[in-house]
Amino acid sequence: MTKVMQIKDIADYDGEEVTVRGWVYNRTGKGRLQFILLRDGSGQAQCVAFKREMAPDEFEIARSLSQESSVIITGTVRADERAPGFPGGYEIGIQRLELVQQADDYPITPKEHGTEFLMNHRHLWVRSNRQWAILRIRATIIKAMRDWLDDQGFLLVDTPIITPAAGEETTTLFDVDYFGDTAYLAQTGQLYNEANIMAFGKVYCFGPTFRAEKSKTRRHLIEFWMLEPEIAFCSLEELMDIEEGLVCAVVERVLEKHPRELAIIERDTAKLEAIAAPFARISYDDAVTRLQALHAQLDDPQQRAELAIDWGEDFGSPHETALAEMFDKPVFVYHYPTAVKAFYMSPVAGRPEVCRSVDLLAPEGYGEIIGGSERIHDLDLLAKNIDQMGLGREAYQWYLELRRFGSVPHAGFGIGIERTVAWVCGLNHVRETIPYARLLNRKYP
Ligand code: 4AD
Ligand code: MG
Repeated sequence: MTKVMQIKDIADYDGEEVTVRGWVYNRTGKGRLQFILLRDGSGQAQCVAFKREMAPDEFEIARSLSQESSVIITGTVRADERAPGFPGGYEIGIQRLELVQQADDYPITPKEHGTEFLMNHRHLWVRSNRQWAILRIRATIIKAMRDWLDDQGFLLVDTPIITPAAGEETTTLFDVDYFGDTAYLAQTGQLYNEANIMAFGKVYCFGPTFRAEKSKTRRHLIEFWMLEPEIAFCSLEELMDIEEGLVCAVVERVLEKHPRELAIIERDTAKLEAIAAPFARISYDDAVTRLQALHAQLDDPQQRAELAIDWGEDFGSPHETALAEMFDKPVFVYHYPTAVKAFYMSPVAGRPEVCRSVDLLAPEGYGEIIGGSERIHDLDLLAKNIDQMGLGREAYQWYLELRRFGSVPHAGFGIGIERTVAWVCGLNHVRETIPYARLLNRKYP
């Protein structure tokens, strides 16, 4: 048998005989000449079946291949500028063809399909060029984040998925029956990160997180992946520097590694090329002033209703979008009202109605992609907040104990993978950024 080649490497095999294994993306041609666009997961190449060069029975198979049939093809690679595919520029002249399975009528055809139909066929939809490109970019984004943190001296420390207590609001917890006890699916790994920094200094966790949120927006998933760095002896300003460095590294890596994928999804790369440090840093107070000024200029009643805001209210998607549109790079908004943020966030000294929190809003209407803060490191204040929220001290004993044995100022953040992918890829909904989305109305397939 000849060497099995991955199509992504086709340029290395010019003039050689190779074997490729994959699926028929498309077939065209007439009579004695058939063009098979074959995908193998790594790329796509045009394979040419010419009757004179093949055994008659194998040519007959080539001529009747249906979309998504699986095949093993052996042939000779030859350069041809016009040849389509990824990377393209080379085609394979078929000598032998083995049918693995002749596919049934494939439900996803080149014609338009509705989103619900495609989501119901997600197990097949992931094969389409566009989805292939998005999910490859997702993998690179995750790797770029991890590489950057590893290079900066962070240690990956995994945190549990099954937890005894809430990490964020109690309203979005998923219950799990834990041998007769109630446990919850993790909303965040943060609380454990706070223990781990006292052992390792700078850590991050990366994993699935769960929010039983009755939100049906283009930014909300029930199950999403989050990368959460946490740093001992870190201020809010230093935290913003880290976030900025991480986000720039991610965008840079995607631009460098994925020009082809970005072209497939028709992303305007000029918008991504503009992403460079520093990002603007504005306070919540300033953000509200800006939104109110914008609101005063609006005529459209619906827009006016959506964008109305009083000091003290949390931002909704329209506010975040409007704020982000005032900048062409991501923008930090810091010192949110304490009342709208989580129980563990440090109050601002001398102004406890606001807290040492920071959200990073992505440009082009993508809204919050990162949430972070300085954490309360004072035992009494943290205990008071836990009581006030009615969280019940029992389950938080270990967390409170961290404030008794060498407590230090510390800070951390969580970056949502799907929202980051949606922004980098320019998608209008997070459902395409994760292989199998869990949405309010969907847990299939
Ligand atoms: O702002 P959040 O809720 O922060 C935390 O969970 C902190 N414990 C993180 C930390 O400081 N270690 O979530 C952080 C990010 C958001 O900015 C967003 O990108 C993403 O996680 N996110 C969601 N993504 C998709 N669907 C949802 N329902 C999300 N909720 C949060
Ligand atoms: Mg948040």
